[in-house]
Amino acid sequence: MNERLECVTCGKRYPVDKVRYTCDCGGLLNFERDTPQVGRELFDKRRATARVPVDQSGVWRFREALMDVDLSAIVTHPEGSTRLYERGGIWFKHEGENPTGSFKDRGMTVAVTQAVRLGATAVACASTGNTSASLAAYAAQAGLRAVVFVPSGKISAGKLAQTLAYGALCLQIRGDFDTAMRLVREVCDRSGIYLLNSINPFRIEGQKTIVWELLQDLDWNPPDWIVLPAGNLGNTSAFGKALREASAAGWIDRLPRIAAIQAAGANPFFRSFSEDFATRHRVTAETVASAIRIGNPVSYDKAVAAIRLTNGLVAQVTDEELMRAKREIDRMGIGCEPASATTLAGVRKLRSDGVMKPGERIACVLTGNLLKDPDAVMKTIDREQIVEVDATIAAVERAITPPLL
Ligand code: F0G
Repeated sequence: MNERLECVTCGKRYPVDKVRYTCDCGGLLNFERDTPQVGRELFDKRRATARVPVDQSGVWRFREALMDVDLSAIVTHPEGSTRLYERGGIWFKHEGENPTGSFKDRGMTVAVTQAVRLGATAVACASTGNTSASLAAYAAQAGLRAVVFVPSGKISAGKLAQTLAYGALCLQIRGDFDTAMRLVREVCDRSGIYLLNSINPFRIEGQKTIVWELLQDLDWNPPDWIVLPAGNLGNTSAFGKALREASAAGWIDRLPRIAAIQAAGANPFFRSFSEDFATRHRVTAETVASAIRIGNPVSYDKAVAAIRLTNGLVAQVTDEELMRAKREIDRMGIGCEPASATTLAGVRKLRSDGVMKPGERIACVLTGNLLKDPDAVMKTIDREQIVEVDATIAAVERAITPPLL
């Protein structure tokens, strides 16, 4: 069996054309296939000359290394092809530049394509807001019903508005994200609605391309570190798998280290890492970074493998540190939502601890757009930046301080 779902715990295999999210043993499933015999030159050529959506997509550009799929079956916006910025010697891969403003679009294009292939008519997820917005957009494009489970009152206004605008039914669960996650899994099992959280292996497949495209941006010369925010741990898992496969295919000759950064108030993965992963921790999560307010991450086992494979690490930053970093990223003229700023806050901390050395090449992945969470911005601006004035020249001139002339 070339393409298969394979349990990360016991190795049992399942076909890819049947709905399945976990193994009979309860373990997580990876989508696996034999190492593709495809050179990275094909991806570079396609990137330079892309004219049609499947080539313009920073996901489907890599299709020979993703999965066998009929081009006409692909549901793409297109997504990916995000920019890489360099500021102060650090790279920022801005996944907030995706069609719905977060990296989730990369996983969603693959998983919704798979949903359609499986004949699903309805899709669902639990979400802190970005997955729900992305799911709603791709479901609208594919003509599928969308039902999202969000923690009531705990997702940002921008994300809620987006999810509703694209037409999803929004269930505001009286409970936290972890409760919503438990609930949606059960509902999907009972009803046959197709589950699009990152426990779905096809989501991970799409998200791998963040790393592949980053490597491509850097001319396949890997950085020393790839830094990302960690919540439900789907993305950490995807990054590990992307690097394993890029190395097996011979596209890169060494592995960057993954640094997964958590908010201190939502740090179960950090706690486990600190004990060399002896115990799996669960916490009641609280942080200003609502995207990663998650206490019981679903993809734990896969993320542990990613950290081990890359000799990576997990760090934590306080809300104050991450909001300070957010302001810095905003003031660079790039901008991001609070969760994404854990990356720069993490780099600052790891550099001052001597873990990241001078001269090391660092790439931070900014996962969500600045406009996702306008309330967070309003908390960090300088009061003097907003001045209400009478509509007169004199009042305007008085308000501009220091004066321009
Ligand atoms: N950054 C942003 C902006 C996110 O929205 C998320 C997760 C993460 C980082 C963490 O990624 O869960 O793969 O470790 N958001 C999910 C959601 C939970 O529902 O939108 P992860």
